[in-house]
Formats: sequence, C-alpha cells, structure tokens
Amino acid sequence: MTTPHVRLGVIGAGFVGRALVQMLDDDSRQVALVDGATATLELVGVAVRDLTTVREGVDSSLLTDDPLSLAARDDVDILVELAGGIEPARTWIETALRRGASVVTANKTLMADCGTELAQLAHENGADLLYEASVAGGIPIIRALRTSLAGEKINRVMGIVNGTTNFILSQMTSEGRDYADALKEAQALGYAEADPTADVEAFDAAAKVQILSSLAIGTALHGEPILREGISKVRSVDVDYARRAGYVIKLIGVVERVGEHGLSRRTHPALIPIDHPLAAVHGAMNAVFIEGDRSGPLMWLGQGAGGEPTASAVLGDVLHAARNRVNGRHDVPFTVDDRLLSVDSGDLSSVFYLSIDVRDEPGVLAQVAGVFGRHNVSIQSMEQSGFGQEARLSFLTHVALTRDVTATLHELDLLVSVDSIGACIRVIDGGGA
Ligand code: NDP
Ligand code: HSE
Repeated sequence: MTTPHVRLGVIGAGFVGRALVQMLDDDSRQVALVDGATATLELVGVAVRDLTTVREGVDSSLLTDDPLSLAARDDVDILVELAGGIEPARTWIETALRRGASVVTANKTLMADCGTELAQLAHENGADLLYEASVAGGIPIIRALRTSLAGEKINRVMGIVNGTTNFILSQMTSEGRDYADALKEAQALGYAEADPTADVEAFDAAAKVQILSSLAIGTALHGEPILREGISKVRSVDVDYARRAGYVIKLIGVVERVGEHGLSRRTHPALIPIDHPLAAVHGAMNAVFIEGDRSGPLMWLGQGAGGEPTASAVLGDVLHAARNRVNGRHDVPFTVDDRLLSVDSGDLSSVFYLSIDVRDEPGVLAQVAGVFGRHNVSIQSMEQSGFGQEARLSFLTHVALTRDVTATLHELDLLVSVDSIGACIRVIDGGGA
C-alpha cells in the first residue's frame, strides 16, 4: 500500500506561520494518520507579503508573494491561513474550499464575520474548515465543545480570552500600576500591538465570544455585534476598591442562556470574586470556564497567544484534516439553532460596582441616594473617601436591571454636585443573570 501523501500550503509566515513551518520540519510529527498507517505531510508553498524578509527556519524556495495562486493550486490539499483580517483572507479560503481543499485558520475576525457561510461552503465541497487556534490560542476549547461536550447543555461560558488585557489588568492588580503604564509594559514585552485598540477595546475578545457562542449554544457566525466594553477606562482606584471588597477585575467574555431561548453574549470588565477559578488566571494566560447542565463547572487554562502555542493548535487541526482526507470524510458544520434570540442588555440584571466623584458638601449623599431610589436601584454597600473639596463614592448595588442602572447614572450625571461618573462595572456571580 502506498503511503498517503497530503500537501500543505501556508499563507503567512509571521509569529504563528513561522512556528508552524518549523514544527512541520520535525519528522517525528509526520504522525500516524490512519489506523496505524502513516501519511506524509509535504509543505509545498508559503505565501507572504514581503519576499525580501529573512525568515529563519523557512525554506526560501517555498516562498511566494501570490497567496491567491497558492490557494488555487490543484496540488494543495490543505490550505493553512495565518495572515489574519477579513479580505483577502476570505477570498483565499473560498478559493481553496471551492475546489475541495480543506482549510485551517487561526483567524477569529474572519470566522466571527462569516464563519457560518464558510463552514457551509466547506461542507458543500466535502472539505474541512477548522479553526481551533482562533479562540484562546493553544487551549483546545473548540474541539472540546464540538466533540466531548456535544451532548451537554451548556448554560454559561465565561472566558479570559485576551492575554494582552489580562496582562494589563494583572499588572494593575499585583504591581499597583496605572493603566497607561501597564499598557506600555505590555507593548514593550510584545503582548500589545503599537495600536492596541483591538485588544484593549475588546474587539478581539468579542470575536472570540461569537465563536464560543456558536459552538456552545448554536448561534450563527455572521458578524452580529455583541455588547462590548474594553478596559481603557479601568482605573487604579477601581482595582483597589475591587481588592478591598474581595474581587479582582478581569476582562471577560460571556455566553449565557437566559430562559429557554434567550441568549446574552458580551465582553466587558467585571469584578470576579477572589475565590472564583478565573480570578487566579494571571498575566497573559487565557482560561475558559464552562457551566454545563450535567457536567457542572469545567475550566481550561493555557497560553492564549504566542507563535508556538498557537501553531500547536493549528498543527492539531492540520493533522485532523489530513486524517479526514485520507479517510475520505470531513467534519459536518456546527448546528445553528434559529430559535435563539439575543436578550436586550438593558433587560439583564446584575450587581454593579459604581464609582462617582462628587462635591463634598452637606446633602450630596442624600441627593445621590435619592436618584438610586427613584430608579429602583438598591444599594448594598457604600464607601466614601474624601480628597479636598471632592469625595469619591463607591457603591455595590444589590441585583439591579442594567437599564435602571443606566438611567441612574444618566440622572446622576446631570446633578451639579456630581463631577464625574468614574466606573460602572458588573459584578460576576454577585447575583442576577
Ligand atoms: P503576523 O502579523 O505575525 O504574520 C502575518 C503573516 O501574514 C506575515 O507573514 C505576512 O507577510 C502575511 N500576510 C499578511 N497579509 C498578507 C497578504 N496580503 N499577502 C501575503 N501575505 C500576507 O500574524 P500572526 O502570526 O501573529 O497571526 C496570524 C493569525 O493567527 C491571525 O489571524 C491572528 O489573529 C491569529 N492568531 C495569532 C496569535 C498570536 O499569538 N500571534 C494567537 C491566536 C491567533 P509578511 O511577513 O511579508 O508581512
Ligand atoms: N491579541 C490576542 C491576545 C492574541 O492578546 O490574546 C491573538 O488572539
């Protein structure tokens, strides 16, 4: 019997692509693919933008600056897309899928934008579309959701799915740095990009939440916006308050069932109780915490970024796609549940941490408390710290509707005695949805 031969084309030789190419060079990884028989993997091309860059560990004879032609090549059985962004990545992937080649990608932006269509296209052409590395880098959460947890009703997924923001918030918590300082360090260490917007304003986390939601609950992947709040407004005083009250602040992504067919998908900073497993996830690590109906709580922890951990997840997908090809099969797309409806975020309830800077004058506290009462927001605890003519009021509410809290802050903002609203951050597992 001849050894099956599977040919790969890789688009992108940056952090992840280069690590993948180096791993493919290691003979020991040309593993047993089918029931004891081996198959060989052959890398036939690597597409990049700039052919003049020196790329250690990448055979320069394989390089091309024409990714579309690589995607269209008849002898490429599996196309690995590691360039990122929506276009032209979408065109490359569609080109490969239309001729029946399988595709492996780490591109969460693209998957969140049009993953359902691409998965359908793959299915129609008898090919795989695999994207394990698109969420939480090296953590194998996608295959766990697709296979091991396929029979589980998942009620909630909460994840720390962005390493850059977790690093910044961890530095603010453990080293007492302010946001700007911690961001600078994240940039110096290569976690944050020169333009950190995608990470700190939670666009990256939002795309990952959409992908997790499609697999955990069955929502379509077609770019529907979700509630997204970043970390750029989190201040040292908020981190300090959280610590005194027994919490840590984390940027979390949440996918949550609300009632029978309701759904909440969101990403925002949250106060997490210090004894919650996610509170112990420090630095640039990622974690995904799942609450299943029968499985109970489960958690995965690992490196959510970095060339090698991410390429490890990509290689797992490559081998899975290769096995499928050798066996003449492909994975079916995830199921979309059309009955699911996103719940208006105003209708969600939670405990909130609120911080308000006010004039330190008689009657101000009563005025502020009156506004809370008028909007049906009950105060659980209040701390006042004074500085000169000003005072900072920090509140934990009881469980309150988000729309009531928003209305409270809106009215407070109009009071002459209120200088500024400093923080409005949800408290996880303090009650509510
Ligand atoms: P890099 O920016 O390091 O590398 C991107 C690569 O793609 C470069 O080699 C670049 O070529 C090539 N490329 C970009 N656009 C084109 C184009 N139009 N034509 C040809 N080549 C192109 O990205 P990463 O390796 O960090 O990320 C790759 C993917 O993996 C992204 O989707 C990212 O979101 C995802 N990912 C990354 C993680 C990480 O830790 N880095 C973690 C999880 C997912 P050139 O080198 O010539 O510029
Ligand atoms: N920028 C992402 C992070 C890694 O900081 O986690 C890529 O998904």
